[in-house]
This record gives sequence, C-alpha cells and structure tokens, in this order.
Amino acid sequence: MGRSSEYSGFYKLPVADRVKLVKEFANLADQDEATLRQSGALSLDLANRMIENVIGVLPVPMGIATNFLINGQDRLIPMAIEEPSVVAAASNAARMARSKGGFRTNSTEPIMIGQIQIVGAPDPQSARFEILSQKDKLLKHANDQDPVLVSLGGGARELQVRVIDSVIGKMVIAELLVDCRDAMGANAVNTMAEAVAPMIEQISGGRVLLRIISNLAVRRLARAKAIFDKEQLGGEAVVEGILNAYAFAAADPFRCATHNKGIMNGVSAVVLATGNDTRAIEAGAHAYAARAGQYASLTTWEKNSEGNLVGTLEMPMAVGTVGGATASNPIAKLAVRILGVKTARELAEIICAVGLAQNLAALRALASEGIQRGHMSLHARNIAISVGATGDLIDRITAQMVTERKIRVDKAKELLDQYSKS
Ligand code: MEV
Repeated sequence: MGRSSEYSGFYKLPVADRVKLVKEFANLADQDEATLRQSGALSLDLANRMIENVIGVLPVPMGIATNFLINGQDRLIPMAIEEPSVVAAASNAARMARSKGGFRTNSTEPIMIGQIQIVGAPDPQSARFEILSQKDKLLKHANDQDPVLVSLGGGARELQVRVIDSVIGKMVIAELLVDCRDAMGANAVNTMAEAVAPMIEQISGGRVLLRIISNLAVRRLARAKAIFDKEQLGGEAVVEGILNAYAFAAADPFRCATHNKGIMNGVSAVVLATGNDTRAIEAGAHAYAARAGQYASLTTWEKNSEGNLVGTLEMPMAVGTVGGATASNPIAKLAVRILGVKTARELAEIICAVGLAQNLAALRALASEGIQRGHMSLHARNIAISVGATGDLIDRITAQMVTERKIRVDKAKELLDQYSKS
C-alpha cells in the first residue's frame, strides 16, 4: 500500500517540519531538501504567510522586454515566464512598433461586477422590480463596507438585476458594479456582495445563494493599438500572411485558442511579474473572447491605406497595484516600480500593449519562417540545463545541438559525457 497523504495539523507545523514530512513521503534526497530551503527574494517566512502549507517557493525567470513606447512614454516591461522566446519576441515587436509611434492605449473605469444569486423568488420579474426600487439603499449599504475605497473615489456605483433561465428554472441575478480604483477588487466586491445579500433576500422574497465577483470583467476593459510598417515587417507578403493568419483564427476556434494563447504569453507574464492573479485574467480573457457566442480572436488586424498593418487588442484587465501579492511579494513590488506605473489602469493598458506585441510577433513568425528556428535554440539551452550541463558547457552543448539540428535529450547527454571527459 502507498503512503497516506492524510496529515492532520500539517498546516500547524513549521515549514522545516513540513519539508521533512514531504521528503519522507516522496523519498527526496538531502540535496532536494536544500533546494526547497532556497527561497531567494521571497523568504520562506513571507511565503508561509501568503498561502497555506508552504514547503518552498517556485522561482520563475523574470526577464525585461525592451523597446516599448506606450502613449509616448518609454517603458521597460518585467515579464515572469518559463517559456523561452517570449521576452525576445515582445521586445522585437515593440521595436518594430516604434517607427509609427509605438502603442496607444486607453481603458474604461476599473469597474468590477459582484453577482448575487437569488433562487426561489415566487415572481422573478416582480423581485427584479422590487430590488431595483431599493437601489439607493442597497448601494449605500455596500459602500458602508469599504469607507477607504469610497474615500479614494471608488465604491459601488450601480446595481443591475437580470432574470436568467437555468436548468432548474428562472433565477434572479443582482449585480453590484463596483469601482475598485487601484485594487484588483475581489475582496472589496465579495465583501459588499455578502453584506447586501440579507437585504436582497428580504426584498426579493427568495433565497440568496452565491455572492461572488465575476471574472468576466466587461466593465474593466483595456485597449491597445499599434501600426507596423510593412517594410519593417518584411514586405507586403508578410502583411498578407499575417492577415491570413488572423482570418484563420477568426474563423476557427482550434486555431483561435492558440492565437489567443500567444497573446496571453505576454499578458500573463506581466500579470505574474506584478503579483497579480493570472487565473482571473485568463478566465476573463477567454470568456470575453466567446462573448458573442463563438470563441473569437481578442485582437484585430487590418491593412491601412498605406498598406501598413494595424493591430488592436481589447480585453478585460482586472489588475491592481495595491493589495494582494502585489503588496507583499518583494519582486512583484520591484516589477511595479520598474514599470513606473502609478495606477491600476496604467498597468492594465501596458499589459494590453504587451499582449498586442506578443500576438504580432507570433503571427509574423508563423506567417514567414515559422517559429521553430528561433524557438529551438532557446529550447536547446533548456535541454542542456536539464541533463545537468553547467557554465560554459551549456553554451557548447546548445550550439552543437543546433548545428547538428539534433535538439534532443539523448544528444545533450551524449555531448555532456563527451565534453565532461575532454
Ligand atoms: C506559443 O507559446 C505561442 C504561439 O503558438 C502563438 C500562436 O500560434 O499564435 C506561437
């Protein structure tokens, strides 16, 4: 029989004791234990206060994308990601955008939606009417929960009520629209939704079940636009190739998932680097892409009268510059300082520009030489490292595998053996 994973009180143990238990469970070596103890800039103590049952931290490389000119201002962009090529591709696309003025961006106010589900209302339309009749009272009660947000100019702004059909019949959904200012806002919105729930229950005559933020943040959108010179892109054929690639994504969800994944390579890397919630952004992005009933591209690409390529990206961008990991993780705090952003909207717009750059880079590569040539040499480095190469040997093994076009683990091992002996 295998070992049991049932430990009562695991959460009460000091980190070092948890590590010992995991070491025993998974037959780890002393060296593995030492690896877990290395935490870098995020101390184990701090990590242990951020989530539960901590035994270590997982470092992810953070790179800087260069060349970004956004609304006339130069920015260096911290990106945390494990995938090679992404940072280089974003920097390359940003360089190409500069000759036509770089990226222009805008955004909506930072409004999040808090949903309150009401079931069993005897007359759903009447319940809707009655809830809306008490709107001012409900908004005031929501705002009483967060005087700090209100003092900063945010707070619950609107209340809307929808009656939806479901597999168990009609239900009433009340939605608080909350201006979250520089916070991502999940805590503020969820607190408000929970606070107004008893009042809504009484007014509607139904029963409140869920009270939770929606990640489909259609009221918190960021937009970016850039023009790319056709000659810099590689000529008219490349522009046509990119437009064809875009048309493919727009017509086919199988391609579109990968197309949007390329956008999210850039978006999620900055979201992660700044300590924001990557899952919230991913969920919002894909739900937004499917809002018309068919999964669609988050970007648009077209040719202007001069034959240059014009790209836009619009997507929900619920990121904060205060609260959460952004406030506690020292590297995330540094990333926000490197970006030089003062507000969550500024950050959201920059992230959107990076997503657009990332999409351009991927489509250009795919529509011309393909992505593998550039990708494989970086991939080769990872393979060299994974077989245990260190120092100069990483470069030598990488170069040899690329020259021989044999970028494989067995080849890396063979070269490591050979070079280590010589
Ligand atoms: C790889 O991480 C991302 C791409 O597949 C995106 C795309 O196909 O557009 C290159």
